[in-house]
Amino acid sequence: MRETALSESRHPERLRNFIAALAELIDSNPGEDDLLHHGGKLLGQLVRHDDWLPDEYALADPTRYQQFLLHADSRQRFSVVSFVWGPGQSTPIHDHRVWGLIGMLRGAEYSQGFARGSEGQLQKAGTPIRLEPGQVEALSPSSNDIHQVSNAFSDQVSISIHVYGANIGAVKRAVYQIDGSEKLFISGYSNAWLPNIWDLSKENQVQ
Ligand SMILES: [Fe+2]
Repeated sequence: MRETALSESRHPERLRNFIAALAELIDSNPGEDDLLHHGGKLLGQLVRHDDWLPDEYALADPTRYQQFLLHADSRQRFSVVSFVWGPGQSTPIHDHRVWGLIGMLRGAEYSQGFARGSEGQLQKAGTPIRLEPGQVEALSPSSNDIHQVSNAFSDQVSISIHVYGANIGAVKRAVYQIDGSEKLFISGYSNAWLPNIWDLSKENQVQ
């Protein structure tokens, strides 16, 4: 049973433990398939609970979707980002150029994959994947790197937790038109400050 959203992060250890476990996994130098498989399980554990994301990283903006950096690995081997979709919001068609994992925390979203046609144009690759809370989707530069993501709801906010194999806000990558033309961009992040998940004083009270 999933827990409901709370007004503040009661369980910062969930994100901290996820970061530690993912760093340990990457330290073992797994191949991409193993990384996505085991990393996906770790992310699935994180998004099973909705009681750890602080409110300020769950705020929608009426003009565009938000991407709040929650953590960047000190060697930029991975980053963890809270994507907040206002009602009806969606991304352009875009790529990532590094591995990615998307875990649904709140609401629901659609991910529509695209592939290049014979003349370079983009074509929808299959039907959209609908992610429900607790579910995880994996992205690989070698197979399904181009997609468009949208909030499944026109009347409520949805939030997904994304993990990428780089400091994704600093990666030069592309958005696409349906004719296949691409434009490079660097996304940056919506926030100037990161959540403090390292204050252990409440968790390790001195008796
Ligand atoms: Fe994406």
